[in-house]
Amino acid sequence: MGSAPFPSAPRRVLRYISVCVAPWICATALARASGPAAPAPTAAPAPTAAAAPTAAAAPTAAARAQRWWQHAVIYEIYPRSFQDSNGDGIGDLNGIARRLGYLEWLGVDAIWIAPMYPSPQVDFGYDISDYRAVDPQYGTLADFDRLLAQAHTHHIRIILDMVLNHTSDRHPWFIESASSRSAAKHDWYCWSDGKTGAAGRPLPPNNWVSLFGGSAWQFVPAVSQFYYHKFYRQQPDLNWRNPAVEQAMFAAMRFWLDRGVAGFRLDAITTLFEDAQLRDEPVLGDVNAQGDPNLDDIYTDNLPEDHGVMRRMRAMTDRYPGERVLIGETYLRKTADLDAWYGGARHDELQLPMDTLLGLGSRLDAGTFRQHLTESQSELHGSQPLFVFDNHDNRRSWDRYGDGIHDAAIARIVATLLLTSRAAALLYQGEEIGQTTATPTRVEDVRDPIGITGWPKEKGRDGERTPMQWDDSNAQAGFSTNAHTWLPVTANYRSINVASESADPDSLLNWHRRLISLRRSNAALRDGRMVMLDQSDATCFVTRAWRAMVRRSSSRSTCRRGRRRCRSASGQRVSVALT
Ligand code: GLC
Repeated sequence: MGSAPFPSAPRRVLRYISVCVAPWICATALARASGPAAPAPTAAPAPTAAAAPTAAAAPTAAARAQRWWQHAVIYEIYPRSFQDSNGDGIGDLNGIARRLGYLEWLGVDAIWIAPMYPSPQVDFGYDISDYRAVDPQYGTLADFDRLLAQAHTHHIRIILDMVLNHTSDRHPWFIESASSRSAAKHDWYCWSDGKTGAAGRPLPPNNWVSLFGGSAWQFVPAVSQFYYHKFYRQQPDLNWRNPAVEQAMFAAMRFWLDRGVAGFRLDAITTLFEDAQLRDEPVLGDVNAQGDPNLDDIYTDNLPEDHGVMRRMRAMTDRYPGERVLIGETYLRKTADLDAWYGGARHDELQLPMDTLLGLGSRLDAGTFRQHLTESQSELHGSQPLFVFDNHDNRRSWDRYGDGIHDAAIARIVATLLLTSRAAALLYQGEEIGQTTATPTRVEDVRDPIGITGWPKEKGRDGERTPMQWDDSNAQAGFSTNAHTWLPVTANYRSINVASESADPDSLLNWHRRLISLRRSNAALRDGRMVMLDQSDATCFVTRAWRAMVRRSSSRSTCRRGRRRCRSASGQRVSVALT
């Protein structure tokens, strides 16, 4: 994969990073002021039998307003790779429970657990065959309930991944659907007769391609029809035009809401509907990494019909106490498109569709960040952005933004942008310690199917999914006791791991922890507005958030940053300067 190309102009961005908090304390001073770093706890207390709460109790009620999700730090857990508790080389729910103490120490408000439901694991859980159970690899429903209860005692909410666009082809619904055209559930998936080619050969109905390679249509002789799949062939798309699908999926969501989960991260949610006329998508030219033509996906992504479902889903989750949250996996083209997923001025769809524009690029450029941040403050009808720099589908930000020389400093910039912006924040396991992308170098080592079919242009997503690096107690970095972990542990675990970084006051881990603590304790950072003080400097980036309501203070403050002078007369304020 290698490092992202690093433009020369923003090098000065690295020269100085400071976080100034009223009364103007720079982060380095803040680091020292906090005293020696307390080591991260390694294990959580024993499970309790307490009933699962609807929402976790907050440690400082005042610091967390009613809408807890607005300023939440949500930590993504990829369960296969977080903590193995039974020595099979694969992470599991009891492993997550063991690490709750660490997550509380770090200061996260909620964890989002990537799919842990029963699954053939073609797409490592994103191909679900039962929406109301736990895959035996990860544990049992009883383990889940215990985890929920334990998380509550650590003031951590649990958000589940919910895959609504498609199921596994092993799901009983699809098995029935594909069995006969007259089956009761035949219409639960997207079927088409297709076209007829030479000698009566069946051909797909249009030019749509799967995001994971090849035609998006798969022929099934038993029904003499094609089914549509946006992702792998083993992930048939559900037909959301059939109201029975919505009823069944909402019921599955209620199953978990009733148990006490705090909400859902909605997988691939912009792809629920496809064009009813199945029109060809415009061809953009050239081919993608899988060798398929590049298409403008206007008929398979972000269709207007999606929004009716979102509004009904929001009405359903709003009936639950405790502010359940709907997070969207929303890869969109521009901020204005994102606004529609909040419901625009009505605010009646998702609370937190992800902004993938700010943090999932690879250009460390002040102007680009400034533009995205400004749009996120001005084009969302006041809704709260949700920023993300890392997840299980993208090369780690360390490698995307790093230049190979200043990587550690750049990782601090990324953390500062993420955690001091007026936004909720998504943090992916390992991001806080600077885990790196470890892309396989031989095709025979690849586990992610897109890396096998796309090799060598597309090497898959294994690199960002390697096991969490806890310590250097064994060759599995404390992740497992099994020498054969499902993906290999990255060799740099001896220096990049939770145990060593928690003991080092200047580590990236403690940088994250302090920023999280700062945003939790400072009302301006939590709730304040955010404006750019500098509008044009390509190498300097300054933002400030302040609490518009607080104007009691008459004192004026002056902050000097080199030749730059910032004046403010507001009461409580925070200034983040990256110059
Ligand atoms: C989402 C998931 C990704 C998965 C895909 C298909 O993008 O994040 O991991 O492969 O959906 O479900």
